[in-house]
Amino acid sequence: MAVDVLLGLQWGDEGKGKIVDVLSQNYDLIARFQGGPNAGHTLEFDNQKYVLNTIPSGIFNAKTMNLIGNGVVIDPIILKRELDNLKTSGFDPVAAKKLVIARKAHLILPTHQLLDAASESKMGEDKIGSTLKGIGPTYMDKTGRNGLRVGDAQLPDFKERYDKLVAKHKSILSHYGEIPDFSEKEKTFFDAIEYLKSIPMVDSEHFVNQYLQEGKTVLAEGAQGAMLDVDFGSYPFVTSSNTTAAGACTGLGIAPQKIGSVIGIFKAYCTRVGSGPFPTELFDETGEQLRQIGHEFGATTGRPRRCGWIDIPALRYAVMLNGVTELVMTKADVLSGFDKIYACTHYDYNGETIDYMPYDICSVPAKPILEEIPGWNEDLTGIKTIEEIPERLSAYVKYIEQHVGVPVKYLSVGPDRVQTLVLN
Ligand code: GTP
Repeated sequence: MAVDVLLGLQWGDEGKGKIVDVLSQNYDLIARFQGGPNAGHTLEFDNQKYVLNTIPSGIFNAKTMNLIGNGVVIDPIILKRELDNLKTSGFDPVAAKKLVIARKAHLILPTHQLLDAASESKMGEDKIGSTLKGIGPTYMDKTGRNGLRVGDAQLPDFKERYDKLVAKHKSILSHYGEIPDFSEKEKTFFDAIEYLKSIPMVDSEHFVNQYLQEGKTVLAEGAQGAMLDVDFGSYPFVTSSNTTAAGACTGLGIAPQKIGSVIGIFKAYCTRVGSGPFPTELFDETGEQLRQIGHEFGATTGRPRRCGWIDIPALRYAVMLNGVTELVMTKADVLSGFDKIYACTHYDYNGETIDYMPYDICSVPAKPILEEIPGWNEDLTGIKTIEEIPERLSAYVKYIEQHVGVPVKYLSVGPDRVQTLVLN
Protein backbone atom coordinates (compact mmCIF):
# COMPACT_ATOMS: atom_id res chain seq x y z
CA MET A 1 0.00 0.00 0.00
CA ALA A 2 1.06 3.61 -0.53
CA VAL A 3 0.43 6.88 1.27
CA ASP A 4 -1.61 9.36 -0.73
CA VAL A 5 -0.81 12.98 -0.06
CA LEU A 6 -3.22 15.88 -0.11
CA LEU A 7 -1.88 19.41 -0.11
CA GLY A 8 -2.56 23.00 -1.10
CA LEU A 9 -1.02 24.30 -4.32
CA GLN A 10 -1.34 28.02 -3.67
CA TRP A 11 -0.80 30.17 -0.57
CA GLY A 12 -3.00 28.11 1.76
CA ASP A 13 -6.72 28.28 2.54
CA GLU A 14 -7.55 26.30 -0.59
CA GLY A 15 -10.14 24.28 1.32
CA LYS A 16 -8.01 21.28 2.29
CA GLY A 17 -10.02 20.63 5.45
CA LYS A 18 -13.27 20.18 3.56
CA ILE A 19 -11.72 17.89 0.95
CA VAL A 20 -9.87 15.72 3.52
CA ASP A 21 -13.15 15.35 5.38
CA VAL A 22 -14.88 14.28 2.15
CA LEU A 23 -12.11 11.86 1.15
CA SER A 24 -11.58 10.44 4.64
CA GLN A 25 -14.25 7.82 4.03
CA ASN A 26 -11.75 6.18 1.61
CA TYR A 27 -8.94 6.03 4.17
CA ASP A 28 -8.12 4.14 7.36
CA LEU A 29 -5.71 6.80 8.59
CA ILE A 30 -5.44 10.57 8.10
CA ALA A 31 -2.00 11.84 9.09
CA ARG A 32 -1.20 15.54 9.36
CA PHE A 33 2.47 16.03 8.44
CA GLN A 34 3.58 19.64 8.98
CA GLY A 35 2.70 23.11 10.17
CA GLY A 36 1.13 24.14 13.41
CA PRO A 37 -2.04 25.76 14.68
CA ASN A 38 -1.65 28.48 12.04
CA ALA A 39 -3.73 26.10 9.92
CA GLY A 40 -7.46 26.64 10.08
CA HIS A 41 -9.12 23.72 8.38
CA THR A 42 -12.84 24.45 8.09
CA LEU A 43 -15.33 21.60 7.80
CA GLU A 44 -19.05 21.93 7.26
CA PHE A 45 -21.72 19.28 7.34
CA ASP A 46 -25.23 18.81 8.80
CA ASN A 47 -25.48 22.59 9.25
CA GLN A 48 -22.50 22.59 11.62
CA LYS A 49 -19.16 24.29 11.09
CA TYR A 50 -15.91 23.17 12.72
CA VAL A 51 -12.46 24.76 12.53
CA LEU A 52 -9.55 22.43 13.22
CA ASN A 53 -6.07 23.84 13.85
CA THR A 54 -4.06 20.80 14.88
CA ILE A 55 -6.43 17.85 14.70
CA PRO A 56 -6.47 16.08 11.31
CA SER A 57 -9.57 16.64 9.23
CA GLY A 58 -10.55 12.96 9.17
CA ILE A 59 -11.66 13.16 12.79
CA PHE A 60 -15.38 13.11 12.00
CA ASN A 61 -15.26 9.96 9.95
CA ALA A 62 -16.30 7.04 12.14
CA LYS A 63 -13.83 4.51 10.74
CA THR A 64 -10.79 6.75 10.36
CA MET A 65 -7.85 6.97 12.76
CA ASN A 66 -6.08 10.34 12.94
CA LEU A 67 -2.41 10.99 13.57
CA ILE A 68 -0.68 14.26 14.34
CA GLY A 69 2.70 13.55 12.78
CA ASN A 70 6.22 14.32 13.94
CA GLY A 71 6.53 17.17 11.42
CA VAL A 72 3.77 19.14 13.15
CA VAL A 73 4.48 21.66 15.91
CA ILE A 74 1.92 21.48 18.68
CA ASP A 75 0.63 24.11 21.03
CA PRO A 76 -0.84 21.97 23.82
CA ILE A 77 -3.12 24.82 24.91
CA ILE A 78 -4.66 25.14 21.45
CA LEU A 79 -4.91 21.37 21.01
CA LYS A 80 -6.70 21.03 24.36
CA ARG A 81 -9.07 23.85 23.38
CA GLU A 82 -9.82 22.15 20.07
CA LEU A 83 -10.57 18.88 21.82
CA ASP A 84 -12.67 20.63 24.49
CA ASN A 85 -14.70 22.32 21.75
CA LEU A 86 -15.35 18.99 20.09
CA LYS A 87 -16.36 17.51 23.44
CA THR A 88 -18.81 20.38 23.96
CA SER A 89 -20.35 19.56 20.61
CA GLY A 90 -20.85 15.99 21.81
CA PHE A 91 -17.84 14.18 20.37
CA ASP A 92 -14.69 13.21 22.25
CA PRO A 93 -12.02 11.93 19.81
CA VAL A 94 -9.71 10.81 22.64
CA ALA A 95 -12.39 8.76 24.38
CA ALA A 96 -13.40 7.40 20.97
CA LYS A 97 -9.74 6.34 20.45
CA LYS A 98 -9.56 8.15 17.14
CA LEU A 99 -6.53 10.33 17.76
CA VAL A 100 -2.86 9.60 18.30
CA ILE A 101 0.04 11.97 18.45
CA ALA A 102 3.68 11.58 17.40
CA ARG A 103 6.18 11.58 20.25
CA LYS A 104 8.66 13.35 18.01
CA ALA A 105 6.40 16.33 17.25
CA HIS A 106 7.78 19.52 18.75
CA LEU A 107 6.07 21.58 21.42
CA ILE A 108 5.23 25.28 21.13
CA LEU A 109 6.01 27.00 24.44
CA PRO A 110 4.51 30.29 25.65
CA THR A 111 7.95 31.87 25.16
CA HIS A 112 7.97 30.80 21.49
CA GLN A 113 4.98 33.07 21.06
CA LEU A 114 6.73 35.92 22.81
CA LEU A 115 9.72 35.44 20.51
CA ASP A 116 7.45 35.44 17.47
CA ALA A 117 5.78 38.69 18.53
CA ALA A 118 9.09 40.34 19.49
CA SER A 119 10.66 39.43 16.16
CA GLU A 120 7.70 40.62 14.06
CA SER A 121 7.45 43.88 16.02
CA LYS A 122 11.00 44.77 14.98
CA MET A 123 10.54 43.94 11.31
CA GLY A 124 8.68 47.08 10.24
CA GLU A 125 7.89 46.87 6.52
CA ASP A 126 9.69 43.53 6.27
CA LYS A 127 7.14 41.78 8.49
CA ILE A 128 6.63 38.16 7.40
CA GLY A 129 2.97 38.34 8.39
CA SER A 130 3.38 35.72 11.08
CA THR A 131 0.22 34.49 12.83
CA LEU A 132 2.20 35.04 16.09
CA LYS A 133 1.46 31.54 17.28
CA GLY A 134 5.12 30.78 17.96
CA ILE A 135 5.43 28.40 15.03
CA GLY A 136 8.54 29.93 13.42
CA PRO A 137 10.55 30.04 16.67
CA THR A 138 9.51 26.45 17.46
CA TYR A 139 10.81 25.20 14.11
CA MET A 140 13.97 27.26 14.72
CA ASP A 141 14.49 25.45 18.02
CA LYS A 142 13.84 22.14 16.26
CA THR A 143 16.55 22.72 13.65
CA GLY A 144 18.72 24.47 16.24
CA ARG A 145 18.50 21.25 18.30
CA ASN A 146 17.07 22.99 21.33
CA GLY A 147 13.44 22.00 21.08
CA LEU A 148 11.16 20.09 23.40
CA ARG A 149 9.16 17.23 21.96
CA VAL A 150 5.81 15.77 22.90
CA GLY A 151 7.54 12.61 24.20
CA ASP A 152 9.65 14.72 26.56
CA ALA A 153 6.49 15.52 28.52
CA GLN A 154 6.64 11.96 29.89
CA LEU A 155 10.23 12.25 31.07
CA PRO A 156 10.87 12.86 34.78
CA ASP A 157 13.05 15.88 34.06
CA PHE A 158 10.58 17.60 31.69
CA LYS A 159 10.29 20.67 33.92
CA GLU A 160 14.07 21.10 34.02
CA ARG A 161 14.28 20.80 30.26
CA TYR A 162 11.47 23.33 29.96
CA ASP A 163 13.20 25.75 32.35
CA LYS A 164 16.47 25.45 30.45
CA LEU A 165 14.84 26.32 27.14
CA VAL A 166 12.80 29.15 28.67
CA ALA A 167 15.98 30.61 30.16
CA LYS A 168 17.48 30.68 26.66
CA HIS A 169 14.36 32.33 25.30
CA LYS A 170 14.40 34.94 28.07
CA SER A 171 17.97 35.88 27.28
CA ILE A 172 16.99 36.46 23.64
CA LEU A 173 13.81 38.30 24.62
CA SER A 174 15.71 40.64 26.92
CA HIS A 175 17.36 42.13 23.80
CA TYR A 176 13.96 43.24 22.57
CA GLY A 177 12.99 45.03 25.80
CA GLU A 178 10.98 44.17 28.87
CA ILE A 179 9.73 40.58 28.92
CA PRO A 180 5.94 40.45 29.32
CA ASP A 181 4.58 38.44 32.24
CA PHE A 182 3.58 35.00 31.03
CA SER A 183 3.02 33.22 34.34
CA GLU A 184 -0.73 32.68 33.70
CA LYS A 185 -0.01 31.30 30.26
CA GLU A 186 2.65 29.03 31.71
CA LYS A 187 0.17 27.60 34.17
CA THR A 188 -2.32 26.92 31.37
CA PHE A 189 0.52 25.35 29.38
CA PHE A 190 1.33 22.84 32.12
CA ASP A 191 -2.35 21.99 32.59
CA ALA A 192 -2.56 21.34 28.87
CA ILE A 193 0.60 19.21 29.01
CA GLU A 194 -1.08 17.00 31.61
CA TYR A 195 -4.04 16.64 29.28
CA LEU A 196 -1.75 15.93 26.32
CA LYS A 197 -0.37 12.96 28.21
CA SER A 198 -3.81 11.34 28.08
CA ILE A 199 -3.61 11.16 24.27
CA PRO A 200 -1.86 8.00 23.05
CA MET A 201 1.68 8.79 21.86
CA VAL A 202 3.20 6.83 18.99
CA ASP A 203 6.29 6.79 16.82
CA SER A 204 4.68 8.02 13.63
CA GLU A 205 7.25 6.28 11.41
CA HIS A 206 6.35 2.86 12.84
CA PHE A 207 2.69 3.68 13.14
CA VAL A 208 2.22 4.70 9.50
CA ASN A 209 4.41 1.93 8.08
CA GLN A 210 2.50 -0.62 10.13
CA TYR A 211 -0.73 0.61 8.56
CA LEU A 212 0.81 0.16 5.11
CA GLN A 213 2.07 -3.34 5.95
CA GLU A 214 -1.41 -4.32 7.03
CA GLY A 215 -2.76 -3.19 3.65
CA LYS A 216 -4.56 -0.18 5.14
CA THR A 217 -5.07 3.12 3.36
CA VAL A 218 -3.35 6.31 4.51
CA LEU A 219 -3.82 9.93 3.50
CA ALA A 220 -1.19 12.49 4.49
CA GLU A 221 -2.78 15.88 5.12
CA GLY A 222 -0.84 19.06 4.43
CA ALA A 223 -1.37 22.54 5.81
CA GLN A 224 -0.76 25.98 4.24
CA GLY A 225 0.25 25.71 0.58
CA ALA A 226 3.10 24.89 -1.79
CA MET A 227 3.80 28.56 -2.47
CA LEU A 228 4.56 29.01 1.22
CA ASP A 229 7.10 26.17 1.34
CA VAL A 230 10.22 27.23 3.26
CA ASP A 231 12.47 26.14 0.37
CA PHE A 232 10.36 26.87 -2.69
CA GLY A 233 8.00 29.66 -1.68
CA SER A 234 8.71 33.38 -2.07
CA TYR A 235 11.40 33.37 0.61
CA PRO A 236 11.45 34.95 3.20
CA PHE A 237 7.67 35.39 3.02
CA VAL A 238 7.03 31.73 3.63
CA THR A 239 6.00 29.41 6.41
CA SER A 240 8.59 27.54 8.48
CA SER A 241 8.04 24.01 7.17
CA ASN A 242 8.11 22.05 3.92
CA THR A 243 4.53 22.18 2.76
CA THR A 244 5.32 20.19 -0.38
CA ALA A 245 4.93 16.42 -0.84
CA ALA A 246 8.49 15.78 0.36
CA GLY A 247 7.36 17.13 3.74
CA ALA A 248 5.03 14.13 4.06
CA CYS A 249 8.08 11.81 4.06
CA THR A 250 9.95 13.68 6.78
CA GLY A 251 6.82 14.75 8.62
CA LEU A 252 5.57 11.20 9.09
CA GLY A 253 8.56 8.92 8.57
CA ILE A 254 7.74 7.31 5.25
CA ALA A 255 10.07 6.57 2.34
CA PRO A 256 9.58 8.42 -0.97
CA GLN A 257 8.65 5.24 -2.85
CA LYS A 258 5.75 4.78 -0.45
CA ILE A 259 4.03 7.88 -1.82
CA GLY A 260 1.05 7.06 -4.05
CA SER A 261 -1.34 9.66 -5.46
CA VAL A 262 -0.64 13.31 -4.82
CA ILE A 263 -3.87 15.27 -4.66
CA GLY A 264 -3.31 18.99 -5.22
CA ILE A 265 -5.97 21.48 -4.20
CA PHE A 266 -6.36 24.92 -5.69
CA LYS A 267 -8.99 27.62 -5.58
CA ALA A 268 -10.60 28.74 -8.83
CA TYR A 269 -8.84 32.05 -8.08
CA CYS A 270 -6.01 32.92 -5.66
CA THR A 271 -5.72 34.30 -2.16
CA ARG A 272 -2.84 35.07 0.14
CA VAL A 273 -2.74 36.08 3.82
CA GLY A 274 0.00 38.21 5.30
CA SER A 275 2.88 39.84 3.51
CA GLY A 276 4.85 38.76 0.48
CA PRO A 277 4.65 38.86 -3.29
CA PHE A 278 1.37 37.89 -4.92
CA PRO A 279 1.56 38.55 -8.67
CA THR A 280 -2.15 38.40 -9.53
CA GLU A 281 -3.39 40.42 -6.54
CA LEU A 282 -6.35 42.68 -7.32
CA PHE A 283 -6.43 45.99 -5.51
CA ASP A 284 -9.72 47.11 -7.02
CA GLU A 285 -13.44 46.53 -6.67
CA THR A 286 -13.12 43.05 -8.23
CA GLY A 287 -10.67 41.98 -5.53
CA GLU A 288 -13.10 43.23 -2.89
CA GLN A 289 -15.93 41.34 -4.59
CA LEU A 290 -13.94 38.09 -4.49
CA ARG A 291 -13.17 38.69 -0.81
CA GLN A 292 -16.80 39.32 0.10
CA ILE A 293 -18.36 36.55 -2.00
CA GLY A 294 -15.66 34.05 -1.07
CA HIS A 295 -15.70 35.06 2.64
CA GLU A 296 -11.96 35.47 2.37
CA PHE A 297 -11.17 36.18 5.99
CA GLY A 298 -8.78 33.95 7.97
CA ALA A 299 -10.44 31.07 9.85
CA THR A 300 -7.99 31.46 12.74
CA THR A 301 -7.02 35.11 12.67
CA GLY A 302 -10.00 36.80 10.96
CA ARG A 303 -7.50 38.68 8.78
CA PRO A 304 -8.81 39.72 5.35
CA ARG A 305 -7.17 37.64 2.64
CA ARG A 306 -5.65 39.31 -0.40
CA CYS A 307 -7.47 38.13 -3.55
CA GLY A 308 -6.51 37.78 -7.21
CA TRP A 309 -6.98 35.74 -10.38
CA ILE A 310 -5.63 32.26 -10.93
CA ASP A 311 -1.87 32.18 -11.45
CA ILE A 312 -0.99 29.44 -13.96
CA PRO A 313 2.85 29.68 -13.77
CA ALA A 314 2.62 29.38 -9.97
CA LEU A 315 0.17 26.48 -10.23
CA ARG A 316 2.33 24.66 -12.78
CA TYR A 317 5.33 25.15 -10.49
CA ALA A 318 3.43 23.68 -7.55
CA VAL A 319 2.26 20.73 -9.65
CA MET A 320 5.86 20.02 -10.64
CA LEU A 321 7.28 20.36 -7.12
CA ASN A 322 4.73 17.95 -5.70
CA GLY A 323 4.34 15.45 -8.52
CA VAL A 324 0.61 16.11 -8.42
CA THR A 325 -1.39 13.28 -9.99
CA GLU A 326 -4.87 14.74 -9.61
CA LEU A 327 -6.35 18.14 -8.93
CA VAL A 328 -9.21 19.47 -6.88
CA MET A 329 -10.68 22.84 -7.80
CA THR A 330 -12.47 24.55 -4.92
CA LYS A 331 -14.63 27.66 -4.65
CA ALA A 332 -15.75 27.55 -8.28
CA ASP A 333 -19.09 28.88 -6.95
CA VAL A 334 -17.42 32.13 -5.90
CA LEU A 335 -16.74 33.03 -9.54
CA SER A 336 -20.42 32.73 -10.55
CA GLY A 337 -21.73 36.05 -11.78
CA PHE A 338 -18.44 37.50 -13.00
CA ASP A 339 -18.93 38.41 -16.69
CA LYS A 340 -15.30 37.79 -17.38
CA ILE A 341 -12.66 36.05 -15.39
CA TYR A 342 -8.95 36.13 -15.99
CA ALA A 343 -6.01 33.76 -15.82
CA CYS A 344 -2.40 34.82 -15.53
CA THR A 345 -0.50 32.79 -18.12
CA HIS A 346 2.85 34.63 -18.10
CA TYR A 347 4.67 37.31 -16.19
CA ASP A 348 6.25 40.48 -17.43
CA TYR A 349 9.49 40.28 -15.51
CA ASN A 350 12.12 42.94 -15.99
CA GLY A 351 10.58 43.67 -19.40
CA GLU A 352 10.78 40.03 -20.46
CA THR A 353 7.79 37.72 -20.93
CA ILE A 354 8.31 34.53 -18.94
CA ASP A 355 6.06 31.57 -18.08
CA TYR A 356 7.78 30.40 -14.90
CA MET A 357 8.24 31.60 -11.34
CA PRO A 358 11.56 33.52 -11.24
CA TYR A 359 14.04 33.44 -8.34
CA ASP A 360 13.32 36.87 -6.93
CA ILE A 361 9.80 38.19 -7.02
CA CYS A 362 10.24 40.02 -3.73
CA SER A 363 12.32 42.94 -4.97
CA VAL A 364 11.49 42.72 -8.70
CA PRO A 365 7.76 42.38 -9.32
CA ALA A 366 6.42 39.66 -11.61
CA LYS A 367 3.62 41.55 -13.39
CA PRO A 368 0.80 39.28 -14.49
CA ILE A 369 -0.08 38.90 -18.17
CA LEU A 370 -3.75 37.99 -18.14
CA GLU A 371 -5.93 36.07 -20.53
CA GLU A 372 -9.65 36.82 -20.55
CA ILE A 373 -12.03 33.90 -20.08
CA PRO A 374 -15.84 34.10 -20.35
CA GLY A 375 -17.50 33.79 -16.95
CA TRP A 376 -20.71 31.98 -16.01
CA ASN A 377 -23.81 33.21 -14.21
CA GLU A 378 -25.37 30.06 -12.87
CA ASP A 379 -25.50 29.49 -9.12
CA LEU A 380 -23.47 26.32 -8.55
CA THR A 381 -24.15 25.74 -4.89
CA GLY A 382 -27.08 23.38 -5.43
CA ILE A 383 -25.75 21.30 -8.29
CA LYS A 384 -25.50 17.60 -7.70
CA THR A 385 -24.39 16.09 -11.01
CA ILE A 386 -21.70 16.85 -13.55
CA GLU A 387 -24.37 17.32 -16.19
CA GLU A 388 -25.47 20.46 -14.36
CA ILE A 389 -22.03 22.10 -14.56
CA PRO A 390 -22.28 25.20 -16.78
CA GLU A 391 -20.45 24.84 -20.08
CA ARG A 392 -18.24 27.83 -19.41
CA LEU A 393 -17.11 26.41 -16.08
CA SER A 394 -16.30 23.09 -17.79
CA ALA A 395 -14.29 25.08 -20.33
CA TYR A 396 -12.43 26.85 -17.49
CA VAL A 397 -11.62 23.50 -15.87
CA LYS A 398 -10.34 22.14 -19.20
CA TYR A 399 -8.31 25.31 -19.74
CA ILE A 400 -6.50 24.76 -16.45
CA GLU A 401 -6.00 21.05 -17.09
CA GLN A 402 -4.39 21.87 -20.42
CA HIS A 403 -2.12 24.47 -18.91
CA VAL A 404 -0.89 22.35 -16.02
CA GLY A 405 -1.15 18.88 -17.57
CA VAL A 406 -3.03 17.15 -14.73
CA PRO A 407 -6.74 16.22 -14.58
CA VAL A 408 -9.15 17.93 -12.23
CA LYS A 409 -10.83 15.06 -10.42
CA TYR A 410 -13.02 16.91 -7.94
CA LEU A 411 -14.89 20.18 -8.19
CA SER A 412 -16.03 21.89 -5.01
CA VAL A 413 -19.01 24.22 -5.35
CA GLY A 414 -19.66 25.21 -1.73
CA PRO A 415 -18.29 24.72 1.78
CA ASP A 416 -20.49 21.76 2.69
CA ARG A 417 -19.38 18.15 2.32
CA VAL A 418 -22.22 17.47 -0.09
CA GLN A 419 -21.19 20.30 -2.42
CA THR A 420 -18.48 18.21 -4.05
CA LEU A 421 -18.59 16.71 -7.55
CA VAL A 422 -16.40 13.90 -8.89
CA LEU A 423 -15.42 14.79 -12.47
CA ASN A 424 -13.35 11.96 -13.84
P1 GTP B 1 -5.14 26.11 5.75
O1 GTP B 1 -4.39 24.85 6.13
O2 GTP B 1 -5.22 27.07 6.89
O3 GTP B 1 -4.53 26.70 4.54
O4 GTP B 1 -6.73 25.79 5.46
P2 GTP B 1 -7.65 25.06 4.38
O5 GTP B 1 -6.95 24.82 3.10
O6 GTP B 1 -8.29 23.87 5.02
O7 GTP B 1 -8.74 26.10 4.02
P3 GTP B 1 -9.78 26.84 4.97
O8 GTP B 1 -10.66 25.85 5.57
O9 GTP B 1 -9.12 27.83 5.85
O10 GTP B 1 -10.48 27.81 3.94
C1 GTP B 1 -11.36 27.46 3.06
C2 GTP B 1 -12.67 28.15 3.35
O11 GTP B 1 -13.45 27.98 2.22
C3 GTP B 1 -13.47 27.53 4.49
O12 GTP B 1 -14.28 28.50 5.08
C4 GTP B 1 -14.31 26.49 3.79
O13 GTP B 1 -15.51 26.19 4.47
C5 GTP B 1 -14.60 27.19 2.51
N1 GTP B 1 -14.74 26.35 1.33
C6 GTP B 1 -14.10 25.19 1.00
N2 GTP B 1 -14.49 24.78 -0.22
C7 GTP B 1 -15.36 25.71 -0.67
C8 GTP B 1 -16.10 25.86 -1.89
O14 GTP B 1 -15.98 25.08 -2.83
N3 GTP B 1 -16.88 26.97 -1.99
C9 GTP B 1 -17.02 27.88 -1.00
N4 GTP B 1 -17.81 28.92 -1.20
N5 GTP B 1 -16.35 27.77 0.16
C10 GTP B 1 -15.53 26.69 0.30
